[in-house]
Amino acid sequence: MKNIVVLVSGGGTNLQALIDAEKSGIIKNGRITCVIASKEGVYALERAKNNDIPTRVIPRKDYADSVSYSKAILEALNEEKADLVVLAGFMTILDKCVTSAYAYKIINVHPALIPSFCGEGFYGLKVHEAALAYGVKVSGATIHFVNEEADAGAIILQGTVNVERDDTPEILQRRIMENVEWKLLPQAVSLFCQDRIEIVDGKAYVK
Ligand code: GAR
Repeated sequence: MKNIVVLVSGGGTNLQALIDAEKSGIIKNGRITCVIASKEGVYALERAKNNDIPTRVIPRKDYADSVSYSKAILEALNEEKADLVVLAGFMTILDKCVTSAYAYKIINVHPALIPSFCGEGFYGLKVHEAALAYGVKVSGATIHFVNEEADAGAIILQGTVNVERDDTPEILQRRIMENVEWKLLPQAVSLFCQDRIEIVDGKAYVK
């Protein structure tokens, strides 16, 4: 059974999808053992507490820079004996001290079709604003491994939705969450926990 540690910064709907998937048996060979938040008071923490999952808060604002923050996160992940780290709406870029210690063990969900609308500055609603401003006709979400470069690690799964003419960023965000993120993130986590993701030449393939 693998220990899954989930990092969050906000409402935690993706965390909820993981909790539900664990309960319903969609996630095989893994359990969420800890939720770490980058901010006090975020609703994701309530979701964890409501499901008796231990929580920790490591506030980003208490650290001067990304390196010192990442060191604190690394220490917590080691203490929690994390086998898999899931960034579920985690809005801080982690330094390479974490990404190299947990290479191919950190999974992120990004709300666009990488390599579009990704990288530093593209997070949350900003991603959907950019997609609508560009006028793309499909968008979606990407589940990928995290490396030292923002949103650039090996892609595990992607899914699409159509963009409609009258979409607002909020409407598009919701469509992508419901149809892609909340389904593919638990699926990727389950594949990882069953050792069914293979890396060949830096690319991820499902076995
Ligand atoms: C999700 O749409 C997630 O894909 C996105 O933030 C939202 C968090 O929602 N993540 C990023 O933009 C990371 N770059 P949630 O807290 O309800 O899961």
